[in-house]
Amino acid sequence: MSQQTSGGLLRLFLVAAPVIIIGGLAIVVVTLVNDRPDEGEAKAALQQPTPILPTLAREAAANVGVSPADLRALGFDILSPVVMPPDNPLNDAKIELGKLLFFDPRMSANSSISCASCHQPAQGWGEGLDINFGFTNTPHWRNSQTIINSAHLSKLFWGGEKLSLEAQAKSAWTGATAQNLDPDLAEERMRQIPEYVRLFTVAFGSTGPSFDDALRAVAAFEATINSTNVPFDRYLEGDTSALSESAIRGAELFVGQAGCSACHSGPLLTDQSFHALGVPDNPKFAQDPLRQITLRFQNRARGVPEDVYRTVDTDLGLFYTTKQEIDIDKFRTPMLREVGQTGPYMHNGVFATLEEVVQFYNAGGGSSPNKSPLISPLGLDGQEVADLVAFLESLTGDPIIVEQPDLPDYEVLP
Ligand code: HEC
Ligand code: HEC
Repeated sequence: MSQQTSGGLLRLFLVAAPVIIIGGLAIVVVTLVNDRPDEGEAKAALQQPTPILPTLAREAAANVGVSPADLRALGFDILSPVVMPPDNPLNDAKIELGKLLFFDPRMSANSSISCASCHQPAQGWGEGLDINFGFTNTPHWRNSQTIINSAHLSKLFWGGEKLSLEAQAKSAWTGATAQNLDPDLAEERMRQIPEYVRLFTVAFGSTGPSFDDALRAVAAFEATINSTNVPFDRYLEGDTSALSESAIRGAELFVGQAGCSACHSGPLLTDQSFHALGVPDNPKFAQDPLRQITLRFQNRARGVPEDVYRTVDTDLGLFYTTKQEIDIDKFRTPMLREVGQTGPYMHNGVFATLEEVVQFYNAGGGSSPNKSPLISPLGLDGQEVADLVAFLESLTGDPIIVEQPDLPDYEVLP
């Protein structure tokens, strides 16, 4: 295993300085002599987006061991406890109710699918498909994300369209390509299930089920589904045997030469900001009329002008929120925790494996008019690609097993 000392980052500059002198960059040398950078500055330099990071420092960084302390100093951390919104404090009855509702297909128009149909515990709480199926005969248009750790995110969906779990759940239950459920119908159904009437009363101190409280309950349940026993977290906590040598080299590349941490930063490994990578289209949309219908419907529902949505063949991402051309193709940087069990990858599931994802970055991404300047060819060799994949896999914790609960029955109530 390589030496894991925080002094390693300081050595980066000792390695870089002579090379810089040879390169004749006199101004930089004067700066180094007059104002020797301390360790904090070295770490700050590593944190800079790729193009700003001097090439020499990037090359040197690839040879330096990244210790748990280095990674923490760069902003990586274990997850803090979930903070719920003020109008939705957690309680046991609410979590229990939310769990039942999450698994209950009666929360779809024809009682055919539940949240758990597309967020299956055994599939990393995602679906395992490139593009999700949807409501009966109405395929979805995006790849299903995991709900693990979702209570830590402040922007939800690939386009970051929803700002809370409660708002997200509303669009899942009511959306035409998801559960297609009318809120009033949902309320009447829940009112004819005595166990739900009881649980709503205990959880919310209310007189019975309401759709808005159902949204709060399902958010409360999601807040209990968080990563456990993640090798990367154990490493951050000081257990240097938690990661393989390959994964540690991958971590070095992630924060150094490969520039991944410019966007995948912080405890969730996302800046929760929007970037265009030029991810290629998924050919499924071109081949399947039902998917064409969904794509055009989604564009229309998001206010895209008719002349565009009648022919549109792609997902415009952040554009739907801002209607600014500069935001076409931009998507919210996804969290990378649990990425070892949440493939296929990207908003359209176009990459089946993590290796394909890393090769895409290695080639400098795809093409888009708004492509991020942070994406450029990386020049990684086969071993380095494998190291990055090993690091990504180390972000995955134990499977979170929750069995399908026995759902309470309908009864005719007064
Ligand atoms: C038909 C399949 C389907 C159903 C049913 C469904 N989801 Fe999803 N879920 C998806 C897809 C696909 C996405 C990504 C959609 C997007 O970005 O527009 C998603 C995204 C999410 C996210 C966002 C995660 C993130 O990283 O931003 C959460 C949270 C979530 N779903 C929870 C739920 C809950 C709660 C329910 C039930 C109320 C539900 N889903 C029902 C397919 C589904
Ligand atoms: C410019 C910001 C940026 C940089 C730099 C970046 N990513 Fe990403 N990453 C994103 C965005 C945005 C997406 C989603 C793109 C989409 O779906 O169209 C993404 C998606 C991913 C995914 C798929 C996750 C999933 O759940 O589907 C993985 C894995 C990933 N990135 C790993 C990396 C690695 C490894 C690097 C470094 C080689 C890297 N990223 C560099 C912004 C970035």
